[in-house]
Amino acid sequence: MEKITFRERTGIIGKKRKKPKLSERISLWFYIRRCKKIKLASEKWYKEQDIVNSLPSAGIGPKKRKIFYKITMGGVDFQFLHGGLVINYPENVKLGNNMIFNRNVSITARSGVSLGNDVMLGPNVVINDSNHVFIDRDTPITRQGHTAEPIVIEDDVWIASNSVILKGVHIGKGAVVAAGSIVTKDVPPYAVVAGVPARQIKNRGE
Ligand SMILES: CC(C)(COP(=O)(O)OP(=O)(O)OC[C@H]1O[C@@H](n2cnc3c(N)ncnc32)[C@H](O)[C@@H]1OP(=O)(O)O)[C@@H](O)C(=O)NCCC(=O)NCCS
Repeated sequence: MEKITFRERTGIIGKKRKKPKLSERISLWFYIRRCKKIKLASEKWYKEQDIVNSLPSAGIGPKKRKIFYKITMGGVDFQFLHGGLVINYPENVKLGNNMIFNRNVSITARSGVSLGNDVMLGPNVVINDSNHVFIDRDTPITRQGHTAEPIVIEDDVWIASNSVILKGVHIGKGAVVAAGSIVTKDVPPYAVVAGVPARQIKNRGE
């Protein structure tokens, strides 16, 4: 399938793309070098993730974010990446290509989170594959550890604003998760789900 650029998607095709300034190209070149030295999931990696995600979404910020994840997480490519992304346990995360993440996405992968190609995440989406253990009333929950089950999100899935994807969930290809949904169970391919807990409201294209 032909790759659509951010400029085409947002309808600004008519405007001539300005060639990046020499200073920007030099700055990105140094940034690539810097990222190549950062080990995935190291303290430095987490620190850099916070820094690069606090940069504005215009100018050099999105470019640096793409470089950071592409180099440290092995070849992943975003179509567009807003700021505020927090990935915990990146060593257990598999990202697809051509994804669009809106602001403040949070991904926690104690056991594993896999995202396919062309996945779109709205603002404030939370994907968390783990729960705190709380069975023992006499021990603070902070000391009881976690349970975790992998989450799989297939190609061409749109998860709209403020939705939460819980542990063990598998979202099938082409599915849509409506704004504000809490997804607790698997979602079939091309289904549209909504609500708390999320239930199927229709199929895409119907
Ligand atoms: C999922 C979505 C695209 C569906 O839109 P749609 O195809 O036009 O669906 P409809 O508005 O016809 O809704 C169908 C039914 O689902 C319900 N529904 C739709 N979205 C819902 C939601 N987020 N939560 C709960 N119910 C919802 C509607 O109330 C309607 O119910 P009814 O048949 O009882 O009246 C849209 O509702 C949505 O959530 N958009 C997200 C917008 C967003 O977050 N954008 C940020 C950019 S990523």
